[in-house]
Amino acid sequence: MTVSSPAPALRPHAEQSFAEELAALERADSRPRPPGWRLSPWAVTQYILGTTLQDGTEIAPKYIGARRVVEVAVATLATDRALLLLGVPGTAKTRLSEHLAAAVAGDSTLLVQGTAGTAEEAIRYGWNYARLLAEGPSQAALVPSPVMTAMAEGRPARVEELTRIPSDVQDALITVLSEKTLPVPELGTEVQAARGFNVIATANDRDRGVNDLSSALRRRFNTVVLPVPATVADELDIVTRRVADLGRSLELPEVPTSLAEIRRVVTVFRELREGATADGTAKVKSPSGTLSTAEAISVVTGGIALAAHFGDGTLRPADVAAGIHSAVVRDPVSDGVVWQEYLETVAREREGWEDFYRACREVSG
Ligand SMILES: Nc1ncnc2c1ncn2[C@@H]1O[C@H](COP(=O)(O)OP(=O)(O)OP(=O)(O)O)[C@@H](O)[C@H]1O
Ligand SMILES: [Mg+2]
Repeated sequence: MTVSSPAPALRPHAEQSFAEELAALERADSRPRPPGWRLSPWAVTQYILGTTLQDGTEIAPKYIGARRVVEVAVATLATDRALLLLGVPGTAKTRLSEHLAAAVAGDSTLLVQGTAGTAEEAIRYGWNYARLLAEGPSQAALVPSPVMTAMAEGRPARVEELTRIPSDVQDALITVLSEKTLPVPELGTEVQAARGFNVIATANDRDRGVNDLSSALRRRFNTVVLPVPATVADELDIVTRRVADLGRSLELPEVPTSLAEIRRVVTVFRELREGATADGTAKVKSPSGTLSTAEAISVVTGGIALAAHFGDGTLRPADVAAGIHSAVVRDPVSDGVVWQEYLETVAREREGWEDFYRACREVSG
């Protein structure tokens, strides 16, 4: 159901934001399309990784990383195996899943959000109880899950955070994925998956062991691991582009972002994450948080908002210091010590980091 509102959506779906790109790709795409797909696997990959089409349309990159990773993910969706995107937090699993669904089917909204409280109805179907009581079980009283709708319409369904879902509920997916059918015993019917149906799931590496996938379910997925950016340059590229995109979509006032400031945020995050300085000469303690690329993007975007509204219109160390502090210091005691040590032994000594060191000292008091 869509409740219409006079204001533009804060966060439109991928297929809305990139409708023009998708339409241009559809026109340009002469390769064979798997049943039910709007684009060929080749065009889906171009949509995800970005390119310039012959007619001049710019396709912006949605996922920045190895082409092969994306190709394997897209190819999987064209087979009878489901796709599991696995990785540590902030490696763009959710983002890639949304854009894959948008490109394959023009619809990324058939979504099950996995939590400890996710019940079987979210994967199978539920009932409209008023109707059920009044009329008994009927097609009209049945409330299909996103998975059931995806099967009926031959589209991909998305399951977020699969391993947070209790194991017995996860098992409901086994029949769906192996038999490609969802029985409705109450009505003596079943929903058979139309061609084009598949499942794109995401799971967090750190959650492993929470509700591990059963081997029966795991076999039905092809797992694609999304890596953390390999080098500072890769990560800097991701952060710079995403910050620019976000600034545009949030309509933040233009702030000349100094690349040096963004590089510093990325460097601090990487050094703390990896437990060593970038030049490899000194060990550093790691804090409890993940300090993902996604968090680096938030710190810089938050800094830009501060600079635009309260600063002198340029991103300065003081604008990112508070954001870095709150990302790093999750636990005031143990992380606080780690951060102090980093500031005193690494940041303080580094050439050109004097202002940054001072700004961070002020925040951490
Ligand atoms: N390789 C990348 N390419 C493009 N954007 C990226 C990349 N890595 C991280 N990002 C950015 O990080 C943001 C967060 O990613 P996303 O929420 O998809 O991560 P996730 O892996 O699902 O994390 P979580 O495990 O916390 O759910 C994305 O919206 C994107 O801006
Ligand atoms: Mg996610």
